[in-house]
Amino acid sequence: MRTASREDSNDLDRLSDIAMGERSSLAQSQDETLGAIVSRFGGEFSVKPFGRARAVVAEREAGGRACGLAYVVPPGRLMRHHAAQGRAAQSVLARMIAEIDLLAVDADVRGRGIGTAVLGEAERWLESRGCRVVMAKVARGDYEVMRWYRRRGYLIAAQQEPFWASLPGFDLRCDDGNDGYQLALKGLGVSLRRARMGAGTYVTVRSSRVHPQARALLHTKAEPAVSP
Ligand SMILES: CC(C)(COP(=O)(O)OP(=O)(O)OC[C@H]1O[C@@H](n2cnc3c(N)ncnc32)[C@H](O)[C@@H]1OP(=O)(O)O)[C@@H](O)C(=O)NCCC(=O)NCCS
Repeated sequence: MRTASREDSNDLDRLSDIAMGERSSLAQSQDETLGAIVSRFGGEFSVKPFGRARAVVAEREAGGRACGLAYVVPPGRLMRHHAAQGRAAQSVLARMIAEIDLLAVDADVRGRGIGTAVLGEAERWLESRGCRVVMAKVARGDYEVMRWYRRRGYLIAAQQEPFWASLPGFDLRCDDGNDGYQLALKGLGVSLRRARMGAGTYVTVRSSRVHPQARALLHTKAEPAVSP
């Protein structure tokens, strides 16, 4: 397991295509590929205005080519959504919440624990940097990948089920954005739970399990003040 380097460029683009599936042609026509990004900035870099991204890769053999990828980034959509809360809120979001943007393993080496290993390394890195919640987007109806995340401690939010947390200075509320994906959420040093709200439910932080160090950073909400 290591941070991706410029030499991984072609492997990163192949693994990105696998991770994005049907999204790939659309996304690649709009954005720079991960291979190009890593060629320019390396496998770990600052993202403006706040936060850091890292591409973790697993190698086929020691010193060999990359066959597994976990690419974690600051929560761009959430940060744009909370732009009105100002720079302090953006900085808190970038520090405490992260997204798994891409996760993939080459088909011929699946089922050997490589996906679990790259995800675990990305989570350890995020937690060491103060991240408390990591989220992934899973295509609606992709029950196999949902089960895979669930077995690795993720809670799968229902379609448009909100995630609520009280962060320093503001309340965070987000959902999947209703764009064909569902959120998979995991607490790092905190655990998440599903709570009832009227006829519906939401996902939030379980207060009794909050690590003392995390408590100062991420407080649980009793109940959201307004319905989504
Ligand atoms: C999801 C994915 C990253 C998992 O990678 P992986 O290296 O196969 O993961 P692991 O080996 O750690 O775990 C694989 C699981 O499938 C089982 N498995 C067994 N043989 C397998 C095989 N040939 N292929 C896939 N999975 C297999 C494993 O036993 C394990 O089961 P578990 O969940 O009960 O532990 C990989 O399947 C993938 O790249 N899928 C396509 C892209 C994708 O869907 N990405 C996620 C987008 S959000």
